[in-house]
Amino acid sequence: MNATSLPAPAAAPKLLHIITWGCQMNVYDSARMADVLRPLGYAPAESAATADMVILNTCHIRDRAAEKVFSELGRLRAIKQARAEAGQDTILAVAGCVAQAEGREILARAPYVDIVLGPQTYHRLPEMVARAARAAGAVIETDFPAEQKFDFLPDATGPQLPGGVTAFLTVQEGCDKFCSFCVVPYTRGAEASRPAVSVLAEARLMARQGVREITLLGQNVNAYHGEGPDGRIWSLARLLRALSDIPGLARLRYTTSHPRDMDEALIAAHGSLPALMPFLHLPVQSGSDRMLAAMRRGHDAASYRALVDRLRRARADLALSSDFIVGHPGETEADFDATLALVRDIGFAQAFSFKYSPRPGTPAAGAGHAAPEAIKDERLQRLQALIREQQDGFNAASVGTRVPVLFTGRGRYPGQIGGRSPWLQAVHAAGPETLIGTQAMVTIEAMRTNSLTGTLLRERACA
Ligand code: SAH
Ligand code: SF4
Ligand code: F3S
Repeated sequence: MNATSLPAPAAAPKLLHIITWGCQMNVYDSARMADVLRPLGYAPAESAATADMVILNTCHIRDRAAEKVFSELGRLRAIKQARAEAGQDTILAVAGCVAQAEGREILARAPYVDIVLGPQTYHRLPEMVARAARAAGAVIETDFPAEQKFDFLPDATGPQLPGGVTAFLTVQEGCDKFCSFCVVPYTRGAEASRPAVSVLAEARLMARQGVREITLLGQNVNAYHGEGPDGRIWSLARLLRALSDIPGLARLRYTTSHPRDMDEALIAAHGSLPALMPFLHLPVQSGSDRMLAAMRRGHDAASYRALVDRLRRARADLALSSDFIVGHPGETEADFDATLALVRDIGFAQAFSFKYSPRPGTPAAGAGHAAPEAIKDERLQRLQALIREQQDGFNAASVGTRVPVLFTGRGRYPGQIGGRSPWLQAVHAAGPETLIGTQAMVTIEAMRTNSLTGTLLRERACA
């Protein structure tokens, strides 16, 4: 065989390591960055130490986000230096919301970083990598581009995890709501929706590759208003209806929704679409009208309660989850009591609660009167104790019931498989791995700290 008949050499294999912090959208973004870089020859690395390129995908939402980034960058710098001494180059990129908010600061304080890119520019990564490789100095891309990145991304290559049964799919990004405390409108930019055709194509591909449950993502996912294949603007309810027709897709969820964007059609969809799971994350932040106004949430506690009533009328077994902030500037003991009262009245299956953290550049950060740390700690503890009680109560109530479980992988112990209930509860049961990727009925028998165990009905029937 002579040399000319040999296939052209493939691009030299290179290894990529992505570190992901923050919300589910960052998880999705990291997968898409890997998609964008795959044609350049980048395959996943086991660790940063073996990678030719490392991306740190950051989150800016709370606490000392920037400090955390700089401390991780210090670690990555040592790896980059050690590799350089061994004659290996490493491209170091910082992506995500800290990159967007503090890109210049990152380059000034960490000059060994090669690329800084905001969440709206990752479709330009190949070009940035080429520029960085030419050693033309650090590359920074944090302007909000005129083009929509989704129009320029290659087709997704499938679910985030090979063989994954559940996946995230971004349909909407950005936020125009400017709540007093929040950086997201500054880091993710204005609200924009992906055209329904591209969402549906990606969902079909995921379904063909074995995904059975898709969670639609957006900072305000229920503000979705994408162009439909019929030329009309589709709402989230319309999009969900089209997605529920895709063969193989058994379950749909969406997150995060805003109470103000919960329209009649979407509420009705909870009653009419069996694939739409009866679990909704609907952040309220506070139960005090005074605080909700200070937070610029655009709704009061009564309208939130009324909304929950309407949702429960559409779907009686709907379970709710929420986000809360304690110690927002101006919060008094009476305001906090109103939050506890709202939690008691609604009853949540789970919820996240956070101490208010001033974010540079947000209106609340300049407001002063933030509660002292000790008060924030004490309120957080009381709120979390109440939420824990409700979560345990919700899980305890499923003991003895039969629930459909979508099995996603192996269980905690050998011979067990694990998955999730419609209400997002982790469930483990003894069963064959052949059931992974399917739904099966399980009788719930016991409650552990953060999961349930049960018996597969089919197995019991055979016994
Ligand atoms: N888009 C979603 C929330 C995104 S951020 C919504 O509008 O509900 C996720 C959660 O982080 C928020 O719901 C809020 O509870 C919390 N959060 C955001 N900024 C915060 C801050 N500055 N301090 C403490 N918690 C914050
Ligand atoms: Fe932040 Fe408010 Fe927008 Fe949610 S709605 S992302 S909390 S500004
Ligand atoms: Fe964090 Fe940005 Fe998500 S600030 S929560 S990674 S939108």
